[in-house]
Amino acid sequence: MGRCPECGAWSTLVEEVFDDPLELPGAPFDVGERPVPLATVDPLAAAGRPTGVDELDRVLGGGLVPGSVTLLAGEPGIGKSTLLLQALGRLAGAGARCLLVSAEESKEQVRLRAGRIEALDPNLLVVAETSLPNVLAHVDEVAPEVLAIDSVQTIVDPDQPGVPGSIHQVRECAHRLVRVAKARGLATVLVGHVTKDGAIAGPRALEHVVDTVLAFEGDRHHALRMLHALKHRFGSTNELGVFEMRDGGLADVADPSALFLADRRAELSGSVVTPILEGGRPLLVEVQALVVPATGDAPSRRATQGVDGGRLALLQAVLDRRGEVKVGAADVYASVAGGIRVADPGIDLALTLALASARLDRPIPADLVAVGEVGLGGEVRLAAQTPRRLAEAARLGFRFAVVPVSAPAVEGITSIPVRGIAEALALAGMYD
Ligand code: TYD
Ligand code: MG
Repeated sequence: MGRCPECGAWSTLVEEVFDDPLELPGAPFDVGERPVPLATVDPLAAAGRPTGVDELDRVLGGGLVPGSVTLLAGEPGIGKSTLLLQALGRLAGAGARCLLVSAEESKEQVRLRAGRIEALDPNLLVVAETSLPNVLAHVDEVAPEVLAIDSVQTIVDPDQPGVPGSIHQVRECAHRLVRVAKARGLATVLVGHVTKDGAIAGPRALEHVVDTVLAFEGDRHHALRMLHALKHRFGSTNELGVFEMRDGGLADVADPSALFLADRRAELSGSVVTPILEGGRPLLVEVQALVVPATGDAPSRRATQGVDGGRLALLQAVLDRRGEVKVGAADVYASVAGGIRVADPGIDLALTLALASARLDRPIPADLVAVGEVGLGGEVRLAAQTPRRLAEAARLGFRFAVVPVSAPAVEGITSIPVRGIAEALALAGMYD
C-alpha cells in the first residue's frame, strides 16, 4: 500500500521481515532457569544503584537496577543528554564504570558539556559510535556496569534492513541491547527522541521491550523540566521528578511549589492557588484567568495555556448558570503559571474562582487555596488525595482552603466546606 490506512500519510509504510519464530535456539529442551518457590526469591536483588541525581532516583524508586533497560524519552532539546551525562558523571564518581555511546554528538561536544556540568570522572568512558556490533564490542572490552546509548534512533545494525531511526532498526537494536543487558547484568539507558506531532518512531515501539520508560517533559521556553515513569517494572509510576535547567545543567528542585509561586502577585484579580497532584506528588500552582469585555462585534475568543480549553468553556457555562456570574460577550483566557500542563480535575474549583475573580475584578484572599472538581450542577466534589494536597498548602503557609463538604479536616489549614460554586464564590468574597 502506498498510503497508510491508519494516519492517511503517503509512503510511510516500512517492510519488516521477522525471523521464523520456531527456530528459537535450543527450544524446547533447554529450559534455562528452573522454577523456585516465590518466597525464596531475594527481593533486594532488584534494588537499584542510586545515580546520585536525587530527582532521577526519586522517579526510579532508588536508582538503576543492574540488568535493566531504561528508555529516557523526550522531545529534542528538552535536556535528555544533559540529564544522562549528569547521572553518568555522578555514577562514575561513586565508582561505577560507565560507558557513554554518543551516536549523535562528537566526543568533543560531549566533553564540552561535561565540563559545564561537572561530569568528568576517570570512570566515565565515552565513544562516538553508531554501529551496533561496534558498540557491543566496546561493551565486551570495557565491561561497564552502566551503559548509555544516546540515542537509540541513531544506532544501526548493518546486518538489518532499514535506515537509522526506522522502526525495524530501532526495535532490532533495542532487542539486542536488552539481551546483552540481561546477560551481563548491565544497567542500560537508551535515549529516545519523541516528536511533538506524536510520530514516535522510536520510544512507542520500544515501550514493551524495555523495563522502564521515563518521560522527560517541559516547555522549552521555561526552565522547568518534569520527569515521570510511564512504565516501571521495579517500582511505582507515581513519582514525579522536577528539575530546573540552568547554565550548569539540571538542578534538582526539591520544593517545586515554592518555585511555582515565587513570582505570584496575590493582590491581582483572577489569581487562585490550588494544590494539584502531578504523578502522585502534591504541587501548588497558580491558576490565572483574564476576562476582557468584547469591543465591536468581533467574535469573542477563548484561549488557554496549561489547562484544557474545553474544561474552561464548561466551567464558564456552569459559572453562568449556577454561580450567577455572567461572563457575557468577552474574551476569556486562562493559564497555569510556570509552563506546567494540568490534567488534574481537582483544578476545577480554582479555575472557576479565578474566572469569577477576573470577571468581577475582585482579588481572592492571598492565603486561600481551592481544591475540588466541579460538576455541571455547580456541585463541588472531592478530588483524589485531598488531605495530601491540603498538607502541602499548609506547609507553604496557606491558611484557608475552599473544599467540598466531604473533605477531611487537615491540621494546619482551616477548611471552608462548600456544597456548590455559589457558596464558594460567596465565601471567597465574590458577592457583596
Ligand atoms: P540536551 O541535553 O542537548 O537536549 P536533548 O538531548 O534532549 O536533545 O539539552 C539541550 C538544551 O539544554 C540546550 O538548548 C541548552 C540547554 N542547556 C542549558 O541550558 N544548560 C546546560 O548546562 C546544558 C548542558 C544545556
Ligand atoms: Mg541529545
